[in-house]
Amino acid sequence: MDTHIIKHLLLLTIFVTLTWTSRASQSPLPTELLVGFKAHPDPSISSFQPLLTDSSGNYSLGFLRVNRDQLSLSILHVPSSVPFWSANTTRLPRWADPTRLFFNGSLILSDSHTGVFWSTYTNADRVWLSNTSNLEMRDGENILWESFKFPSDTLVERQNFSNTMSLVSSNGIYSMRLGSDFFGLYANFRYPGPGPGQGQIYLKHRALEAKADIVEGQPIKLILQPDGYLGMFQNGSIPVDVESFNSFQQNVSGIRRVRLEPDGNLKGYYWTGTSWVLEYQAISDPCELPSSCGSYGLCKPGQECSCLDNRMVHGSGGCGPVVNRISSDFCGEYENGFKILRRSGVELPFKELMGYIKMDSLEKCEGACEGNCTCWGVVYSNSSGFCYMLDYPIQSLLAVGDETKVGYFKVREGLEKKEGGEWLGLGLGLLFGAVLIFAGVLGLGWYRWRSRGVKGYLEEDGVGVGAYKDLGAASFRSIELSEK
Ligand SMILES: *[C@@H]1O[C@H](CO)[C@@H](O)[C@H](O)[C@H]1NC(C)=O
Ligand SMILES: *[C@@H]1O[C@H](CO)[C@@H](O)[C@H](O)[C@H]1NC(C)=O
Ligand SMILES: *[C@@H]1O[C@H](CO)[C@@H](O)[C@H](O)[C@H]1NC(C)=O
Ligand SMILES: *[C@@H]1O[C@H](CO)[C@@H](O)[C@H](O)[C@H]1NC(C)=O
Ligand SMILES: *[C@@H]1O[C@H](CO)[C@@H](O)[C@H](O)[C@H]1NC(C)=O
Ligand SMILES: *[C@@H]1O[C@H](CO)[C@@H](O)[C@H](O)[C@H]1NC(C)=O
Ligand SMILES: *[C@@H]1O[C@H](CO)[C@@H](O)[C@H](O)[C@H]1NC(C)=O
Ligand SMILES: *[C@@H]1O[C@H](CO)[C@@H](O)[C@H](O)[C@H]1NC(C)=O
Ligand SMILES: *[C@@H]1O[C@H](CO)[C@@H](O)[C@H](O)[C@H]1NC(C)=O
Repeated sequence: MDTHIIKHLLLLTIFVTLTWTSRASQSPLPTELLVGFKAHPDPSISSFQPLLTDSSGNYSLGFLRVNRDQLSLSILHVPSSVPFWSANTTRLPRWADPTRLFFNGSLILSDSHTGVFWSTYTNADRVWLSNTSNLEMRDGENILWESFKFPSDTLVERQNFSNTMSLVSSNGIYSMRLGSDFFGLYANFRYPGPGPGQGQIYLKHRALEAKADIVEGQPIKLILQPDGYLGMFQNGSIPVDVESFNSFQQNVSGIRRVRLEPDGNLKGYYWTGTSWVLEYQAISDPCELPSSCGSYGLCKPGQECSCLDNRMVHGSGGCGPVVNRISSDFCGEYENGFKILRRSGVELPFKELMGYIKMDSLEKCEGACEGNCTCWGVVYSNSSGFCYMLDYPIQSLLAVGDETKVGYFKVREGLEKKEGGEWLGLGLGLLFGAVLIFAGVLGLGWYRWRSRGVKGYLEEDGVGVGAYKDLGAASFRSIELSEK
């Protein structure tokens, strides 16, 4: 797994270095942008087009190519090409001429056809990138706007993470935010989702208050400390919680970062000068991750993945048909469009954080879900009588020896809508469907024959949460250093 990352890092670094050396010979990168600055994505650049550098040369703001023909405005850690920050646009701009970045007091990313994607809405006189990776809109010495206040998936040393902020994983599924005395990780498997910072909580790290007590009603903040821990602070410099890393109180010369990863884990790293070393994982058992084995997956200790339904084959994105991963419930047109899958010896990975209702039989528990169109399934424990209802598409469950723990899961049968019952409509629909399928088969055959090899590429591209491609604005799958 590490060699895989390193391989990717190396490739990326080589790539970026190559692109840069060719550019660097043209003109050195500016260390500040003044009013009047304008830039377009350069079609000849394949990965990252730098526009602004910090004083040390360790960080750069520029256009980062994503999904082949789109871009995000990102800050990269130059030696490793790891993005630390990206502008939170609602859609990704195209890597094409109409897209431009300009500074007129506000730093604005826009498209001459569709308008403004993103703006800092400031009245600053220059744009500055600090040597800690903070993008600043400055007016004289005043900082009017800074990217540290709008983090993406990463926190760096000393960056303040407050209860008004959230970290969101690059695929848009996971988020982190602060509660009154804890930090929580949340998963959102529904589409369209309830928004970041909401959804199902799957990790709750409460302050231990060993060194200082929490004063009720006052907000807390989280800071990655240079001596190797995530500190929770409230009032003053004495932490109310110390979540220490492997390198705690050891001298590490390089910088540190924590990132909410696309698999939902929160990981800490330090930089050795040539590579990132993993020094912290909020969730150490992979089976405890919300989607360790993908949708309808089953995780056995040691992260051996299989499927809830033994007839399904475990693939990269899980086991269920793709439609289960894109739509949020069975209400309305999809009502009754599901079949039932039962499996005993299963448990929810973070059940202590999930709500339950006590019921005296499995039948009652299942019954509560069956007719409820927002329910995707239940997990019932016969010994405790706890009935857990799942209101999001089924993800991974844990395999347990106790066969009295039973799961009941809805599996969407296909995309057919519930018809009004008109036989004529149904007949026409079937006929039309058959024609479509026939045309589709012909077309597919032709396509395969035309372009062998495309399929392989598509399959690789679909690794992971393919169906969530459009979910988050910032989808960096094309450069994701996935650990699978
Ligand atoms: C990059 O940052 C490191 C500290 O992490 C520093 O020692 C180094 O000098 C910086 N690189 C440059 C080119 O300034
Ligand atoms: C900067 O450009 C934006 C978008 O075109 C515009 O709305 C705004 O008024 C401009 N600001 C100034 C100070 O010209
Ligand atoms: C970063 O900038 C500060 C001043 O803003 C300076 O004191 C520090 O030495 C710089 N660090 C690096 C690694 O360049
Ligand atoms: C990005 O913007 C959306 C809405 O514009 C917001 O809901 C979301 O929290 C933002 N993401 C981050 C990482 O701040
Ligand atoms: C974090 O917040 C404290 C107190 O508000 C402030 O002094 C400090 O400069 C902030 N750190 C950064 C990196 O902005
Ligand atoms: C911090 O706590 C002390 C003692 O509880 C209190 O006197 C002080 O006002 C607090 N400071 C802040 C900034 O809340
Ligand atoms: C870390 O480095 C500092 C100065 O470079 C030194 O004073 C301190 O003793 C070192 N700490 C450890 C634990 O090695
Ligand atoms: C479930 O529990 C009840 C009593 O709590 C017991 O009678 C029943 O046999 C159990 N069923 C199974 C399948 O273990
Ligand atoms: C339907 O299920 C959802 C969870 O999916 C639950 O919150 C809601 O209360 C249920 N509604 C009824 C009427 O049972």
